[in-house]
Amino acid sequence: MKLNIAVLPGDGVGPEVTREAVRVLRAVSDFCGYDFRFEEAPIGGGASVEFGQPFPPHTRERCLNSSAVLLGAVGGPQFDHLTGERRPEAGLLDLRHTLGCFANLRPAIAFPSIAACSPLRPERLTGANLMIVRELLGGLYFGEPRAIDQAGHQAFNTMRYTEHEIERVARVAFKLAERRTKKLISVDKANVLETSRYWRQVVTRVAKEFPEVALEHALVDSFAMNVITWPARYDVVLTENLFGDILSDETAVIAGSLGMLPSASIGGRVDLYEPIHGSAPDIAGKGIANPIGAIGSVAMLLRHTAKLHAEADSVDFAIEAVLKAGFRTADLLPAEQRAKAVSTEEMGRRIAEATIEALNSRMAYHAV
Ligand code: IPM
Ligand code: MN
Repeated sequence: MKLNIAVLPGDGVGPEVTREAVRVLRAVSDFCGYDFRFEEAPIGGGASVEFGQPFPPHTRERCLNSSAVLLGAVGGPQFDHLTGERRPEAGLLDLRHTLGCFANLRPAIAFPSIAACSPLRPERLTGANLMIVRELLGGLYFGEPRAIDQAGHQAFNTMRYTEHEIERVARVAFKLAERRTKKLISVDKANVLETSRYWRQVVTRVAKEFPEVALEHALVDSFAMNVITWPARYDVVLTENLFGDILSDETAVIAGSLGMLPSASIGGRVDLYEPIHGSAPDIAGKGIANPIGAIGSVAMLLRHTAKLHAEADSVDFAIEAVLKAGFRTADLLPAEQRAKAVSTEEMGRRIAEATIEALNSRMAYHAV
């Protein structure tokens, strides 16, 4: 098994968390005798300052020639002076667009061992296991025209969706739903927006290809309330770009911390994996960030890109085992217990070790 992984650490805590994700992948590669190679490239605010653009051509080249891209995070207040195409976030959007990955999978699971990290009542969290499928290349993020028109004292963005854009992401969501609990809720704002009314039409049509999946539609405002009130009632959530951005941060409350959530962006030339959290400039460089979102993202890489299901399951199992054993980064502890927190590196090492243990016992099991 050969994989060339482009590693784009980016800004803020990005380098710290991707280091641990790479540690876990290396451990898997060494243990299983695979040939995983890692090549770093710059992206984000740092790249913009150094190379004049947040997604420089050599990074683009490296990504397009890789089997998968692993990204840390981009942005930070030190880059606020950068405008337009030079903004760190513009680099990430350019990367997503270049790779063509239109379906962004953002799972949010309530692990029982850290239920106390969530402000939600534990009985509401029981069994919560959501999969947000966020459309990633359309809507307000990319629609033209867009501008700040100083002379006209106005600014505008365009929300636009084509049939093709809706169909392809809907199919990804329905296929996932078929393999999960066969429930899918499509979230829109069809009482106000034409794009949403069209979204609903197209999704309803695509649903006919998947007769086993029960489709429901919801309006984004009420869904935002319901998902946090009854998280265990939902499974696959299909939605457009901006709604998915907002709702996925909201579901982090179910998982207990934004640092917990991984993501996979698929469907294009090369798949992209990144934790959903940002660059967390307030804690950057301190070695205290939670690497689980990044490590969960490499579990998704092993599953979706490499089709190494046993290895992917072992990483997920290891994450839960380390949490069950009581190890916590600072974001998973109340303020008065932060002294007991483990560092980013310790969390990474423990998960890497637990992954190998899980792989070992799996082999022993199959040998019997
Ligand atoms: C995310 C982030 C990005 C987004 C930003 C950094 C461009 O918030 O991945 O959720 O809005 O998609
Ligand atoms: Mn976001």
